Amino acid sequence: MKFSTLLPILSLLFGLSLAHPPARSKHHIKPAYFVLAGDSTTAVQASGGGGWGNGFLNHTLWPPASGKNLGHNGATTVSFRAGGDWANAIDLVQNHTDDYEVFVTIQFGHNDQKAKANISLSEYAMNLGVFVDDVRAAGGTPILVTPLTRRSFSGDPPRIVESLSNETLATMEVAEAKHARFIDLNSASTEYCNAIGPDACHVYNLEDGGDVEKLSGSDNTHLNVWGSVVFGRMISDLMTAKYWDIRLWTKPNATLTWEIEHGIAA
Ligand SMILES: *[C@@H]1O[C@H](CO)[C@@H](O)[C@H](O)[C@H]1NC(C)=O
Ligand SMILES: *[C@@H]1O[C@H](CO)[C@@H](O)[C@H](O)[C@H]1NC(C)=O
Ligand SMILES: *[C@@H]1O[C@H](CO)[C@@H](O)[C@H](O)[C@H]1NC(C)=O
Ligand SMILES: *[C@@H]1O[C@H](CO)[C@@H](O)[C@H](O)[C@H]1NC(C)=O
Ligand SMILES: *[C@@H]1O[C@H](CO)[C@@H](O)[C@H](O)[C@H]1NC(C)=O
Repeated sequence: MKFSTLLPILSLLFGLSLAHPPARSKHHIKPAYFVLAGDSTTAVQASGGGGWGNGFLNHTLWPPASGKNLGHNGATTVSFRAGGDWANAIDLVQNHTDDYEVFVTIQFGHNDQKAKANISLSEYAMNLGVFVDDVRAAGGTPILVTPLTRRSFSGDPPRIVESLSNETLATMEVAEAKHARFIDLNSASTEYCNAIGPDACHVYNLEDGGDVEKLSGSDNTHLNVWGSVVFGRMISDLMTAKYWDIRLWTKPNATLTWEIEHGIAA
C-alpha cells in the first residue's frame, strides 16, 4: 500500500489533524526508521545488559516503520565512537534516508559517570553535542534521551535514589543549545518507579523476573523483556506527545499507556 493511501487511515485511527502538516510531507510521508545509540540500558536483553530498545522497536511501531538497536553494554560517549558503533549508526542513517525519515536516539550517562571512565560532565555534554551534529550532517534527526533511572530506592517511604541528575540536566542543556529534540526519560522513569514502589519496580529487573526472594543485591539497572516493553512504551509515549511525525508511525497500547500515566504497576 502506498503511504499516501495509508495516511488517511492512520489519521482516522488516531484522530490526527493533518490540516497543516509540514509542507514537504504533503507530497510524500516516509515511514520512520530508528537507530538507537546508547549503553546497556538501551541494549538487547542478554547477560549483563538489557534496556528499552527492543521493547520499543518490537511493540510500538507500525510497519514499515522499524529500526535497529545499537545499544552496547558498558558504552560511554567516548567508547561508542572509539569502538566503531557510532560509525555504524551514521552508516545506517545514510543507508536509510532515501526510504525513511531517520531518527537517532542518543542515550548515555550510566557509564560516563563512573570514575574509571574519566569523562567529565562537560566532556560528556560536548560528546553528545557532536553526536547531534553528526546525525544532522548524515541527514537524520537526533533525539537526545535523558538516562533511564536506576531502580534503587532508599528511605521510608522508599524513593528512587536519583543518581543521574547531573547527566540528565547536561543532556537537556545540550538539546536546548543545539535546538535538538529531546525526551526526559530520567524524570518519567523516576516518577513512575516512585509511584509503583520498589516491589513492582523490581519485577522489571533483568535477573529477578519478579522473584522477590532475590531482590537484595539484584540488578536494578537492566531490564528484562517485560521491562523493555514497559519502558519502551514510556519512550514512545514521551516522543509521541511532542512529535507528530513519530506519532504517525506509532502503534498504540492504550492500556499500557494508561497504566504508565496513572502510576499503576504494569
Ligand atoms: C523482540 O523481538 C525479538 C525477535 O522476535 C525477541 O527475541 C525479543 O525477545 C523481543 N524483545 C522484546 C523486549 O520484546
Ligand atoms: C551501507 O551501505 C554501504 C554501501 O552499500 C554498505 O557497504 C554498508 O555495509 C551499509 N551499512 C549498513 C550499516 O547497512
Ligand atoms: C583523565 O582525563 C584527564 C583529561 O583528559 C587526563 O589529563 C588525566 O590524565 C586522566 N586521568 C586518568 C587517571 O586517566
Ligand atoms: C552532581 O555534580 C556535583 C558537582 O560536581 C556533585 O557534587 C554531585 O555529587 C553530583 N551528583 C550526582 C547525583 O552525581
Ligand atoms: C499492552 O498492554 C497490556 C497491559 O499492560 C499488556 O498486557 C500487553 O502485553 C501489551 N501489549 C503489547 C503488544 O505491548
